[in-house]
Amino acid sequence: MRRKLVAGNWKMVASRDRLAELVAVNEVAGRLDVDVALCPPFPLIGPARDAAPQLDVGGQDCHHLLEGPHTGSTSAALLRDIGAAYCIVGHSERRALGETDAQVSAKAAAAVCAGLVPIICVGESAEQRRQGDAAVFISHQVCASLPAAVMPEHMVIAYEPIWAIGSGRTPTASEIAEMHHAIRGSLIRSYGMTAAETRILYGGSVNPRNAAWISAIEGVGGLLVGACSLAAADFVPIIEAAAAAGDAVPAAA
Ligand code: PGA
Repeated sequence: MRRKLVAGNWKMVASRDRLAELVAVNEVAGRLDVDVALCPPFPLIGPARDAAPQLDVGGQDCHHLLEGPHTGSTSAALLRDIGAAYCIVGHSERRALGETDAQVSAKAAAAVCAGLVPIICVGESAEQRRQGDAAVFISHQVCASLPAAVMPEHMVIAYEPIWAIGSGRTPTASEIAEMHHAIRGSLIRSYGMTAAETRILYGGSVNPRNAAWISAIEGVGGLLVGACSLAAADFVPIIEAAAAAGDAVPAAA
């Protein structure tokens, strides 16, 4: 059994004034039995860590190589060096720019190699769900996006249906349970039973009103939160709801 993880994705927030929101988030993270991470834009990772020492910090992307002449890119090794613990890879907003499963897998491998825990994002489109193939698609996408030769306890998967991100729409509880079950099955087929406790987060329009029932779904190991991680008034109750739901109980695959 693992503590739940609530990760905030600040995406391209444009001002360091946002850091003021972290005072209350830091307080709740230190008090409750839950892991809390924040993934701000790269220039705010160090300041966020200093402002909120009870949180882990992470990047939103990394290069698949640890060093070299790649202008504009950030290395997982540097993220680790400045104190990051996590790195999101394969977010659908980056996949939409052309990032492939193979590139996501290489980035996840680089993150693990540098000592970070990758948060590997997967999720089906609205069209795939309409066609009824969401669970089959997700099983393939998980397999293709995972790094080889990595212990499954060194990574986190985030199930984020593309159509739920930023839309205010979420799947039903049984749809989330079904997709988490499919992802767990893929992990166990790839890595064996050691993957039984890999945390699988849900992400996509998580807010203070739905965080409790989503966190209580069997197999949900935490939440990846975009818009509602920006203000303490939203993020704190989400963290409280995840903590109240207790440890992550893996769904049987
Ligand atoms: P959202 O974003 O919570 O704003 O839907 C989630 C994400 O993109 O990770």
